Amino acid sequence: MPKRYLVTAALPYSNNRLHVGHIAGAYLPADTYVRYLRARGHEVRFICGSDDNGVAIEISALQEKTTPEKICDHFHDSQVRDFAGLRIEFDTYGGTHHPDFVKLHEQFSQNFFRRIHEKGYFTKRRTKQLFDRQADRFLPDRFVRGTCHHCGFERATGDQCEACGQMIEPLLLKNPISVISGQPAEVRETTHWYLRLSDFQKPLQEWLEKKQGQWRPHVLNFALGQIKQGLPERSMTRDIAWGIPVPLDDPDAHGKVLYVWFDAPIGYISFTAAWCAAHEGDWRGYEKWWADPDTAIVHFIGEDNTVFHALIWPAMLMADGQYQLPHVVVANNFMNHRVAGETQKISKSSTAPDAPVWVEEFLKQGLDADRLRYYLTRAAPESARTAFDPEEFIARNDNELANTLGNFVNRALSFAVRFFDGKVPDTAAQTDADRQHLVRAGAALEKVGTCLEEHKFRAGLDELMGFAGLCNEYINSRAPWTSRKNDLPDCAAALATCIHSIHYLAVMAWPFMPGTARRVLQMLNVPEAPIRWEPPPALQTGAALGQPQILFAKLEPGTIG
Ligand code: MF3
Ligand code: ZN
Repeated sequence: MPKRYLVTAALPYSNNRLHVGHIAGAYLPADTYVRYLRARGHEVRFICGSDDNGVAIEISALQEKTTPEKICDHFHDSQVRDFAGLRIEFDTYGGTHHPDFVKLHEQFSQNFFRRIHEKGYFTKRRTKQLFDRQADRFLPDRFVRGTCHHCGFERATGDQCEACGQMIEPLLLKNPISVISGQPAEVRETTHWYLRLSDFQKPLQEWLEKKQGQWRPHVLNFALGQIKQGLPERSMTRDIAWGIPVPLDDPDAHGKVLYVWFDAPIGYISFTAAWCAAHEGDWRGYEKWWADPDTAIVHFIGEDNTVFHALIWPAMLMADGQYQLPHVVVANNFMNHRVAGETQKISKSSTAPDAPVWVEEFLKQGLDADRLRYYLTRAAPESARTAFDPEEFIARNDNELANTLGNFVNRALSFAVRFFDGKVPDTAAQTDADRQHLVRAGAALEKVGTCLEEHKFRAGLDELMGFAGLCNEYINSRAPWTSRKNDLPDCAAALATCIHSIHYLAVMAWPFMPGTARRVLQMLNVPEAPIRWEPPPALQTGAALGQPQILFAKLEPGTIG
């Protein structure tokens, strides 16, 4: 059992708004997991931040005719607002070029690079590279598009193919075109430092094979499949201006920066150090999280990040040798968007700017964020791609949140207000059915916990809703509205059991829907205390309950477009 957990969610590039695919892919499951771990009493750090360096940001600045700094600032702030709006709460939200983080981040990244260099795992190589004559500059990875040399997809970018997920060797792209000028790219010579991934093939394979049964099969199969094909060397430097300077005393390094995928994951470490500096007065506190085997490092990512987190980043960590390898990499697939019966990719170019799949647009509608958290976990792309479907969103809200969960809570609590003076009724006349129902509550709590432990968020939510369904059956079969007229102690015991179940539901709902859990606890008049993942004690007979409210109102068709 690990003593503590360092949980990360992939650093989003700070050149775009967040959409539901990002949230369902990495940030929501990570936040759910962290809330669960904390409720279990574990010590946890939850680290994220913006990925500010690299070509993507440089392209955006070029397109918007502004500076990379301005792009990063703008989208970093937009990300912070979106996460807060969705109750996704990191311990720290850094940024690889953010003024509060950049210094430490550059130091960590440059030291990391230097150490790997000293150990001899880089090959310095004069190489050919695509060049844009019109723009007078080299064209690394994402500045080029062309036909994938693995699968023939025509719009592959120079770092990775969106269609087959494999790494791209830009020089092997067919018909390479410069993204900047739109002109065919030509080949020129330059120098770069390549990490010899092949040196780590064996240890990577051994390490990954030990993860069988613990990691999702699609992550392991992908990573092991890549190893089988043989890992190519990967250039860890770039000929661009925006990034962290290559820290070598070598004229060939002049004007070059670190590859963004080299420095970005190091952000997990440097942001941890920044947290320690800010909260404990010493950045060195990060070692407890990164170098102590009692800490489990858990990375949450989207499918397109798998190659980096399951192979390249672990290879970097092995080459460096100072830190621990990830305990688990949890990857989700993409989430598409269903519009008018058609499934579409969510992207800046193809998705309407006011579509509710953009978190900012969703939040503008003023709906409780927990409704979105619920839906995104229900439809989470844990083993295959799924799609955000506005009609399904409304149906699930109405049928599940309103009719199943909200209705039970509301029925029971309003009944207590009307007939028990808003107080917890006496349990003296408890029946076997009542005791059995509470046993089921305990079993549900345990099952949801096991699911979360195993990163099966969808299944965990199914268990929770399964129990909410049982609660409705229970109240229907115990029919306190009948016993009220002829057997008041029996009615009291049934209702007290309902109230106890509502407390269970609040605990189970916490990782998924923290706002809802808090509202339910207020309705129970349970003081604001940290939520513990354990069977909640029965409330004292006669204790005053809070004011019941409708937990989830139904939504009008078309509420969300
Ligand atoms: N910015 C990358 C993306 O959005 C993710 C970077 S994750 C990190 O795909 F590990 F590099 F930080
Ligand atoms: Zn491909």
